[in-house]
Amino acid sequence: MTAAATPWRATVPARIAGIGSYLPDRVVTNDDLAQVLDTNDEWIRTRTGIRQRHVVAPEQATSDLAIAAGEAALADAGLTAADVSTIIVATTTPDHTVPGTAPIVAAALGTEAGAFDVNAACSGFLYGLRVGTAMVATGDDVVLVIGAEALTRIVDPTDRSVAVLFGDGAGAAVLVPDEQGAIGPFDLGADGQDPSMLWTCTGGTRTPVSPEVLEDRSHFLTMRGGDVYRNAVARMTASSKLVLERAGLDVDDVDLFVGHQANLRILEAVRGRLGMAEERTHVTVDQHGNTSAASVPLALADARDAGRLTPGDTVLLTAFGAGLTWGSTLVRWHPSGTAAADQQDPTTETA
Ligand code: COA
Repeated sequence: MTAAATPWRATVPARIAGIGSYLPDRVVTNDDLAQVLDTNDEWIRTRTGIRQRHVVAPEQATSDLAIAAGEAALADAGLTAADVSTIIVATTTPDHTVPGTAPIVAAALGTEAGAFDVNAACSGFLYGLRVGTAMVATGDDVVLVIGAEALTRIVDPTDRSVAVLFGDGAGAAVLVPDEQGAIGPFDLGADGQDPSMLWTCTGGTRTPVSPEVLEDRSHFLTMRGGDVYRNAVARMTASSKLVLERAGLDVDDVDLFVGHQANLRILEAVRGRLGMAEERTHVTVDQHGNTSAASVPLALADARDAGRLTPGDTVLLTAFGAGLTWGSTLVRWHPSGTAAADQQDPTTETA
């Protein structure tokens, strides 16, 4: 464990005071998929590391997952929705095109706090964290950042090249002010020159839904797997190195590496290029599949639940997704539930 006495360079005056997650009850294994698709457990495991994924119930949408994760994160921080200044939902699978998902989540949590969505695909949580920490730094007391996705709703269940990769879920983090700064520096990047590498070709304003679109099934997610793979490895490696350099830290200063859980081979390649020890890498892709913007906060919550995070630990987060988009940051881990204590009126404190 590295409990640096001084903040790293370029941190934002904010910290994570609580985290939470939610996974739908239904688990679909590789063998389950092999019943309905021309695939098998061995192909999926060796190519991706995925063994199972959670899938939304018919009556659930992305906001339902986000609400549950948000509630869990607030409880973990010892706060309620009444304390929240702003809610950010990172998602690429919103309940509706209009309105955003965040206002629906805010209403269900019982607040009229500002609420908006961020769409940076699988990098969405890193983007949400960047916006949320900036808001805390400029006066917001409590920002709830949620990554939530129902990816299985936009994947063609008959297309084996993508149907085996994705899962559903949500993870959330509560951000509060922290003078010393326990998040950052950040690196965010995007390259939109070829969005067709990973996209839903139709169903948006360029080609709205029509009988033809439904007929050719082009409203479902498609991907050029090899190109995505190469870009994911290169971008997450470079972005991770950049934040370490900006912080003045070495890879050995990182206690836990929590990368976007798209594919075990991608994670392993990034880890290897960074020179990160295997035992310092947290892996959930085997259990969750690729949950896009939910993957990093879900993995963070899973690491905490597994006892892999100790106060003072330095955690490296990195993600990559459609766009292309990517992002990385460092987090110094704090004990949960301390936000409420920080907010206590000092005159009511007992000796
Ligand atoms: N089950 C069985 N066979 C499958 C299959 C499946 N689910 N999906 C594809 N195949 C077949 C292909 O049809 C192809 O068959 P062919 O050789 O007869 O044409 C063969 O397997 C190899 O396909 P290929 O696409 O070359 O496999 P790959 O080794 O490149 O692995 C991915 C495919 C998708 C696993 C890999 O490209 C990848 O991980 N890409 C990144 C995906 C990702 O993480 N996206 C999200 C990023 S945010």
